[in-house]
Amino acid sequence: MTYALITIVTIAIIVLVLWLIWYQITKPWQHLPTPKNSIPFIGHIFPLDRTKIIQFINKQFKDTGKRTVCVWLLWNPLVISIDVKLFEEVLKSTQYISKGNIYDFLKEWLGTGLLISDGKKWKTRRRMLTPAFHFDILKSNFDIINRHAKTFIETLMIQTKINEKPIEFFEITKGFSLNTLLESAMGITFGQSESKLNAMLSSYTYSVDILTSAVQERFVRPWLWSPFIYRNFTADGKEYFKQLIIANTFIRNVIDDRIETLQMEGNDNKRLLFLDILLDAYQKKEIDIEGIMEEVHTFMFEGHDTVSSSIAWAVYCIGRDKRVQGKIFEEINSISEEGFCMESLTQLKYTECVIKESLRLHPPVPVILRTMDTDVEINNLKIPANTDTAFHLLVMQRDESIWKDAAQFKPERFVDDSFSKRNPFTYLPFSAGPRNCIGQRYAMMELKIVLFHLLKTFRLEATQEESELKQHIAVIHRADDGLLIKCIKRKEKEN
Ligand code: HEM
Repeated sequence: MTYALITIVTIAIIVLVLWLIWYQITKPWQHLPTPKNSIPFIGHIFPLDRTKIIQFINKQFKDTGKRTVCVWLLWNPLVISIDVKLFEEVLKSTQYISKGNIYDFLKEWLGTGLLISDGKKWKTRRRMLTPAFHFDILKSNFDIINRHAKTFIETLMIQTKINEKPIEFFEITKGFSLNTLLESAMGITFGQSESKLNAMLSSYTYSVDILTSAVQERFVRPWLWSPFIYRNFTADGKEYFKQLIIANTFIRNVIDDRIETLQMEGNDNKRLLFLDILLDAYQKKEIDIEGIMEEVHTFMFEGHDTVSSSIAWAVYCIGRDKRVQGKIFEEINSISEEGFCMESLTQLKYTECVIKESLRLHPPVPVILRTMDTDVEINNLKIPANTDTAFHLLVMQRDESIWKDAAQFKPERFVDDSFSKRNPFTYLPFSAGPRNCIGQRYAMMELKIVLFHLLKTFRLEATQEESELKQHIAVIHRADDGLLIKCIKRKEKEN
């Protein structure tokens, strides 16, 4: 009896002490709306199936009825917000430029390149690399992008001739976005056969798939957070590090190829290419080889995966809406293929609205993270310093209280003046403020060029309902099973 009593009292004391410890740990965040289903020291259990995460996050907002919630992953708080005032306060600030700790999962791969670095390193690199995206450089890229867009159309033509089945667009657009980036930003000519180059590109895109999926998988599986355990005791971790070597080799080849070309051609051939800026800085001892590697990794990833996702989503939206497709075709058809040039892009006004609307519904980068170095107080909610804070663009840009008929694809909302009058922080596919997307004008240009050729050549049909799509956010917004698009060659008289 006494023994049983001692056991009960001991357990009660342990539980009380644990509860007190948990209470102390969570105290600074207790005033924040917290979804109920949290277990002390374990936190909220995120679904392991990546296609269920968007619904899970939506549910947390619905259940609490709040625009900012705090969830727990073990003993780590994560604030998730769709509060436009919070977005504005943090994103426009030059003080809050540090990315969240979740980005640590990307560091083995991207190092601390421009996307992840902060402080002085970020400022210096941003200043160094901005000239690569000036208007004159973009203009000089028009012909390169245009040529690759035409090659992409030829690939689609061949595919549609082989069989009439719908084509999966996330995959097929990767070749276009990668080739374009390699030539325009890295000056790559690869003195290799086309088949060898294609094999290299597809093994690189496969590696990127594994590396991005791993970030999302580790995020919801705390037992995989330790790099030591992940690397040595899991099959996925071993595969991850194998793919990392392949991606590293590819990036190293890109850099070596450009060095070789410059040595052969001399400096006369130099444009202000992204990679040439880095190689110049290397000669001036402003950056080391590791720095070049992390920046080339960062730009190769950010510059191709986002673009291929945005093309695929735009084509999906157009392929679902005959009215929009008719209007965009009318605009595109008013410009001849022979006369298509940089200046034509300003005429593609409706096309631009279509792209913007598709980026609203399907932002390729669906979540932005920050960790603020001071407390931030908005709408009577204080977010303690150093809390990982996720700005959920995908949910915010589909919020009915912000966007009328939010779920509908309506490019016209970007035509009228009401868009220019709205708070710019309600629409953030390229983020905003000092850490906005450095490549956004390049991306918009690429999107317009590729849509011009696609719609001139094909009628597009997307048969999957949006509710059928298994959408997920493995760093980039995609759908498992892909986006299947039927490309039907237009008849001569349509043009
Ligand atoms: C439609 C295509 C694109 C979308 C939607 C997009 C979106 C974004 C977003 C939302 C951010 C902010 C991320 C954050 O704060 O965590 C970002 C940053 C960045 N993007 Fe893009 N991006 C696109 C294309 C590109 C391209 C083509 C490049 C390069 C060629 C690029 C390079 C970068 C880099 C380097 C950063 C980090 C900038 C910094 O922190 O200073 N992006 N992008």
